[in-house]
Amino acid sequence: MEENINVRTLSVDIGGSGVKVIVLDAKGNPISKRRRLETPKPATPLPILNKIAELASNQDEYERVSVGFPGVVRLGKVETAVNLHPDWIGFDLATALSKNFKRPVRVVNDADMQGLGAITGKGIELVVTLGTGFGSALFVDGTLLPNLEMGHHRFRKGESYEEQLGRTVLEKVGQNKWNKRLKKAIASLNHLFNYDYLYIGGGEAKKVTIELPSNVKIIPNLTGLLGGIKLWES
Ligand code: BGC
Repeated sequence: MEENINVRTLSVDIGGSGVKVIVLDAKGNPISKRRRLETPKPATPLPILNKIAELASNQDEYERVSVGFPGVVRLGKVETAVNLHPDWIGFDLATALSKNFKRPVRVVNDADMQGLGAITGKGIELVVTLGTGFGSALFVDGTLLPNLEMGHHRFRKGESYEEQLGRTVLEKVGQNKWNKRLKKAIASLNHLFNYDYLYIGGGEAKKVTIELPSNVKIIPNLTGLLGGIKLWES
């Protein structure tokens, strides 16, 4: 462990509307200012890689890179990217970034990374993220079940959680209706997972106005980046 004492991590959160970066010290504390750029449209791999490079060039020094990607990721390779572009499917993001950065890179699902930054490691902990998409991550005593895709499962009225609670629909139906739906979603997720804790993150979590049960907590959007340190623990 001694040699890792000064290792710094560039943490990257790729989202449907913004790409964000921050540098973390060996303990996971931010040591740079968080920076964000709009996600380019169309959101194909190359322009997003360029945005990451642009953001990274303004950051402090770092020795390794952690990335949260908004889709299913297996061994650094993208399998789904519903809110970006189909060109991502099959793209080896970890290899492409390690070539660009010439540093070790680890890539996981964005909700998984956010969850890693939020959980206590005790009991059943569920994390959902409210942003462009609906992200989800499940942990049992701190162990992650990777790539849980609750967002695309049927929720109500023949629609998925993402179709009922994603950003596009929030803008369409308004905050009140969206909050009522969220209340139903929380109840439905509790029925299914019987979680000890539910954490709600993502860019739209600040629009939550309903009263939350005592085991449900809003987490800051920064958690999506802070989780980056945990990718190196195993
Ligand atoms: C994707 C998930 C992702 C979520 C939040 C969903 O559309 O399928 O993998 O975690 O959006 O970005």
